[in-house]
Amino acid sequence: MTAGLSRLFLDHFFSSSLIAEANDRLVGFLVGFLSPSQPTVAYIHYVAVDPDFRAKGLARELYTRFFDLARADARTVVQAITSPQNHRSIAFHTAMGFTVSDPYENHDGPGTTRVRFSRLL
Ligand SMILES: CC(C)(COP(=O)(O)OP(=O)(O)OC[C@H]1O[C@@H](n2cnc3c(N)ncnc32)[C@H](O)[C@@H]1OP(=O)(O)O)[C@@H](O)C(=O)NCCC(=O)NCCS
Repeated sequence: MTAGLSRLFLDHFFSSSLIAEANDRLVGFLVGFLSPSQPTVAYIHYVAVDPDFRAKGLARELYTRFFDLARADARTVVQAITSPQNHRSIAFHTAMGFTVSDPYENHDGPGTTRVRFSRLL
């Protein structure tokens, strides 16, 4: 995961990010931010839950709290992306009410196909 989570996200977006702990251990996190350039948009960069804690509603709880945080700042849409191979992420975002785009080729440069998620708040 470190490839997609450079330190700048932790240093500069912690006030709009969330962690979940159990027995003083990190078991889930959401890294998100309120877009500084698009005033209606909130963006979720990364979410992950410890495999031992999945399918218990933890990511739903993290998303619900982030939605509240975004609404409090008058954001009207939440966006995210994933790779087309990440079927788990696509299933999760669908369950969370996101629309799922067709794959976009070259989203992050040559050879990077991504699907885009979007959900109105
Ligand atoms: C995707 C991920 C964050 C989901 O976390 P989770 O805590 O297990 O999800 P929840 O238990 O909160 O599930 C919320 C909803 O998504 C659905 N969902 C979650 N994972 C699913 C899966 N693998 N298949 C189908 N549906 C799934 C649940 O059924 C649930 O729907 P419901 O509330 O209507 O019953 C977790 O699988 C993960 O960490 N994956 C690896 C990291 C990753 O791929 N992150 C996304 C990068 S964009």
